[in-house]
Amino acid sequence: MNIGTENKTFASATVETIIIGVQKHREQMKNWSAFSEFFGSALDEWIRSGEISSDRKKLMKFPVTTVNETLKRVVFVGLGEGKTLTEENLRETFGLVGKELKALKVNNYAIWLESFATPTIEETDVAFLAAEGIGMGFYTVPNYKTSSNEQDTYVDRVEFITEANGEEVAASFEVGHIYAQAVNEARSLVNLPPNMLTATDLANYAVDLAKQYDFEVEILDKAQLEELGMGGILSVNQGSSEEPRMITLKYQAKDKWEDVVGFVGKGVTYDTGGYSLKPRESMVGMKGDMGGAAAVLGAMKIIGETRPKRNVVAVIGSTDNMVSGTAFKPDDVITTYSGKTVEVLNTDAEGRLVLADAMTYAKQQGANYLIDVATLTGGVIVALGMDKTGALTNNEEFFESFMEATVETGEFVWRLPLTEKDKKRIRKSDLADLNNSPGRDGHMIFGGGFVGEFAEDTPWIHLDIAGTSDATAPHDLGPKGGTGVMVRTLAAFVEQF
Ligand code: BES
Ligand code: ZN
Ligand code: ZN
Repeated sequence: MNIGTENKTFASATVETIIIGVQKHREQMKNWSAFSEFFGSALDEWIRSGEISSDRKKLMKFPVTTVNETLKRVVFVGLGEGKTLTEENLRETFGLVGKELKALKVNNYAIWLESFATPTIEETDVAFLAAEGIGMGFYTVPNYKTSSNEQDTYVDRVEFITEANGEEVAASFEVGHIYAQAVNEARSLVNLPPNMLTATDLANYAVDLAKQYDFEVEILDKAQLEELGMGGILSVNQGSSEEPRMITLKYQAKDKWEDVVGFVGKGVTYDTGGYSLKPRESMVGMKGDMGGAAAVLGAMKIIGETRPKRNVVAVIGSTDNMVSGTAFKPDDVITTYSGKTVEVLNTDAEGRLVLADAMTYAKQQGANYLIDVATLTGGVIVALGMDKTGALTNNEEFFESFMEATVETGEFVWRLPLTEKDKKRIRKSDLADLNNSPGRDGHMIFGGGFVGEFAEDTPWIHLDIAGTSDATAPHDLGPKGGTGVMVRTLAAFVEQF
């Protein structure tokens, strides 16, 4: 995309569409006078008649073809009271703008930055939020309809109507654009049908990413996992005719490989539940059980683009969870890579077994901090709903600094407790060190707490995205389907930590 660094005026912008914010108190908007001069009495008339409204999230489009040869329309965007407008409000509003631009098949547009600025949100922030919001709103789910002959629309150029520094604004937009594109790629991974995304495919995707961004990459295949004794991921894979993969990416930006942030992702490409089979209604959608892996890969894409001065290792355990004569069973006792044994009480609690080995491997690869991301339990949905990511931690300080990143990105995370009593129940088994399903009550905590057993003393945060990874309905920032949740927060965390 060509991101213009040259400041434009309303009349000099060479685009199809100009986007303008309308705040409730127009007299508080920077530069409103210059703009209203341009439109003259027509603008006042539109406002008086209610044609243009400042109602938050209201979009209004007007054909304007007399200004220059390229301009076709102006889209006005209601913002409500400027003083109460938050960055998240603005991001979501831009999401709606993105959807509108997609529907209009817009290839290029200009944003009048000052019209969206408030006392606390500067022009450069507006540019970032616009790139993020519009980029995410623009996303549509790839489909396989044979009747579809529609060409996908791409925005190839954007311009800014602003008095702020053009270079700074463009740079800020560029980063927002990177964030949105990474989210959209993660969404597409989640949306891929399970026959089109096996563990091998996911590993190939990671290899491509590594090539693109010069990451160190290692893919462990089934034979190698067997050699290493990764009994967690291997037992989940036992019923499958598809091979499992343990995927590792390393990004090194410090001289020494120390002070390493570790991302660990659940990459279950399909979860039937195994012998503890899922009811038919809850099996549909389990192609998205690799949402944690997608979040980690999306974050790595941003890191590859923005190249923060940090060391990061990403480990993804990938397999499907199938039924067959060779599948693992409830009552099996398995040995994980850490050496810890697990009594399997429920083969549908498979994510924690895959993550167990991935956590140990991440530690071995030098991770000093661990963040695991997983569509781990239905319990988190019962506890927090579909719009909040559930968290656990063993380290307050680490968690607090992570939460700062969520404030920046607007992704809601809520921490649940993990008590000694909870840990006791995870460790309760007559046959093994741990059991993988202590009970239904508060089982988000048991799921995450089980993963935490493999963090041991390393500062650790668990993110259960079972509710947030897949949207059941369209939302301001995108369509139904994969959301790419945590892509932005993981990346923002690395940049700021
Ligand atoms: N992949 C599921 C969790 C899930 C549920 C993800 C809904 C997305 C939407 C996970 O492997 C699972 O089946 N968890 C069980 C655990 C239980 C058997 C202890 C669950 O939450 O019911
Ligand atoms: Zn499961
Ligand atoms: Zn699962």
